[in-house]
Amino acid sequence: MLVVGSGGREHALAEALATSHLEPEVFAAPGNPGIARVAQTVDIPASDLVALRHFARDNGIDLTIVGPEDPLIGGIAECFWEDGLKVFGPSRAAARIEGSKVFAKEVMRHAGVPTAEFEVFDRQNSALAYLRSRQEYPVVVKADGAAAGKGVTVARTRDEAEEAVREAFSGRFGAAGERVLIEECLVGREASIFVMTDGREILPFLPAQDYKPIYDGNQGPNTGGMGAYSPIMWMEPATYAAVLEEIIRPTLHQLALIGATYTGLLYAGVMVTEDGPKALEFNCRFGDPETQVILPRLGSDLLELMIATNEENILGREVVWSADKAVCVVLASEGYPETSSTGDRISGLDEIPTNVFIYHAATEERDGVFYTAGGRVLNVVGTGPSIIEARARAYAAVERIHFPGMQYRTDIALEAMELEDL
Ligand SMILES: Nc1ncnc2c1ncn2[C@@H]1O[C@H](COP(=O)(O)OP(=O)(O)O)[C@@H](O)[C@H]1O
Ligand SMILES: [Mg+2]
Repeated sequence: MLVVGSGGREHALAEALATSHLEPEVFAAPGNPGIARVAQTVDIPASDLVALRHFARDNGIDLTIVGPEDPLIGGIAECFWEDGLKVFGPSRAAARIEGSKVFAKEVMRHAGVPTAEFEVFDRQNSALAYLRSRQEYPVVVKADGAAAGKGVTVARTRDEAEEAVREAFSGRFGAAGERVLIEECLVGREASIFVMTDGREILPFLPAQDYKPIYDGNQGPNTGGMGAYSPIMWMEPATYAAVLEEIIRPTLHQLALIGATYTGLLYAGVMVTEDGPKALEFNCRFGDPETQVILPRLGSDLLELMIATNEENILGREVVWSADKAVCVVLASEGYPETSSTGDRISGLDEIPTNVFIYHAATEERDGVFYTAGGRVLNVVGTGPSIIEARARAYAAVERIHFPGMQYRTDIALEAMELEDL
């Protein structure tokens, strides 16, 4: 097996694959020092699709699992298929569901999927004119293409919205900002829902919630994700069923209809509103850090599920879960998310307490010592029979770890714990 990527998500994936009863030999490109404990790392960047393909061909890789979105949006699946190599992940055509927010909205409109009302603009002037004529604020402004989580602004006022429109058209997001979506602002609670799919049948995973803003109380700028927990007790089974039946299935059906059959892992970001769940967006891969709270609780064999998905053999299968809950706290470096300090010495990783998983997201190892190597450095996951216990274990493990400038949120899963308490 070959895992493509180098973050905490890929560490969790590599670990779940390495413990499969099929006993695979696991490689990771480029991987990281945490991944190197469970897989053989290969020095090829996730962006070098041709080098990855040659590695897979020359080393008899049976299945390549792609962590990040960029290689999928860039067509890694098609690239590998040319050599008869198998990939767990969608084609370039299907990955557009993440690569273009306008495409995703058009698919949803045709499929009748509940989502925010929207307008599309390919010129700054027409977007600004629309904002001037619009009465209801807040409004959401989105750059069309993949902008590494920085292309979305929830604008409280017309001024903020105009600023976001100008920023998108200024070229700051590159080609991603050549078209802009302006959306109705939905109110509710957000959840991340994953399904594995062969394009027709689905294998649903339990939902998770992530935390994007850097500071407690959801203050400050957005990040790649500062924490997560799973499952989410506040989501009613009927709501979850509605996400599958009204959002995910019709979207997959519509993609198949237009010749972009989706295979792999589909991630739906949803807002549970007073009128039921509505789709915010789709991602074409596992979420980070949601994966880090989902995989430790997976009772089924991840590799078996992936192989079954690729062989279109998932009908009647069920995903088995442990009864445990999981809470992930992300440790970030000084300056994140604007910048990130690197080379800070990390201590406290020698002993990992029981029921705790530590996934490396951006570390470097020199002479047996770990150093920070990016913004989100480590993911500390606690598991236990309740959110209270999982959370306590995660934060107790966080207390043992130190590096200069270390930042983390202290309120991950706090509201979930309070709900559990009732
Ligand atoms: N229509 C909307 N109404 C309210 N909030 C939204 C809306 N669209 C997006 N958001 C908020 O912005 C965040 C980022 O938007 P999303 O569509 O997920 O794009 P990306 O993850 O690519 O940045 C969401 O997680 C959500 O909090
Ligand atoms: Mg998102």
